[in-house]
Amino acid sequence: MRRTLAGGFELDDDRARIDVDAVHAFISEQSYWGRGRSRELHERAIRGSARVVGLYMGSKQIGFARAVSDGATVGYLADVYVLPDYRGRGLGLELVREIVDGGGSASDVRWLLHTADAQGLYSKLGFTDGPPLYPLMERGRGGGASVPSRDDAPAAAGAHPADTPPQQ
Ligand SMILES: CC(C)(COP(=O)(O)OP(=O)(O)OC[C@H]1O[C@@H](n2cnc3c(N)ncnc32)[C@H](O)[C@@H]1OP(=O)(O)O)[C@@H](O)C(=O)NCCC(=O)NCCS
Repeated sequence: MRRTLAGGFELDDDRARIDVDAVHAFISEQSYWGRGRSRELHERAIRGSARVVGLYMGSKQIGFARAVSDGATVGYLADVYVLPDYRGRGLGLELVREIVDGGGSASDVRWLLHTADAQGLYSKLGFTDGPPLYPLMERGRGGGASVPSRDDAPAAAGAHPADTPPQQ
């Protein structure tokens, strides 16, 4: 899938085109949820995801999102970002729309995500932030607690509950 957007931007789900260094740089240095992740972890995440979508301006990757999904019943949306210089022009919305409505049976799937502050974007695509259908439980990476104590979380105010620095 390759889709051209207004302004010459492009969405592409070609896994081989993903600029792993760009994804790693943003998420490990600028995101609130994956600071300190290793490049090798990102390589594995990209390889193991059901679908990865890059957002491009020419040869430069300026955004990213990935889906962890069985393609039939449930999907988890992860690592969504648009670089700061390109925000506020509808690109994030198109990126997420491509994941949840594009690609085969994506729209049949129940989509889940964690977000600290971008509910406004996701609500445009049908996500709700009411209580989940059933109570949500989490197990942190390595089998530990999902939510580290506040003393352990440098960015606690905006920390992503599923993937905060102490668990990398
Ligand atoms: C969240 C992010 C992907 C949005 O990208 P973007 O290209 O700026 O978003 P868009 O321009 O497509 O916004 C589409 C709509 O969602 C809304 N929206 C976007 N970001 C929002 C936010 N953080 N909070 C509330 N609403 C938001 C916009 O207001 C817009 O609605 P409008 O057209 O009615 O004004 C981008 O800000 C980003 O990369 N942030 C840092 C990483 C991050 O927080 N990712 C989400 C983790 S779940």
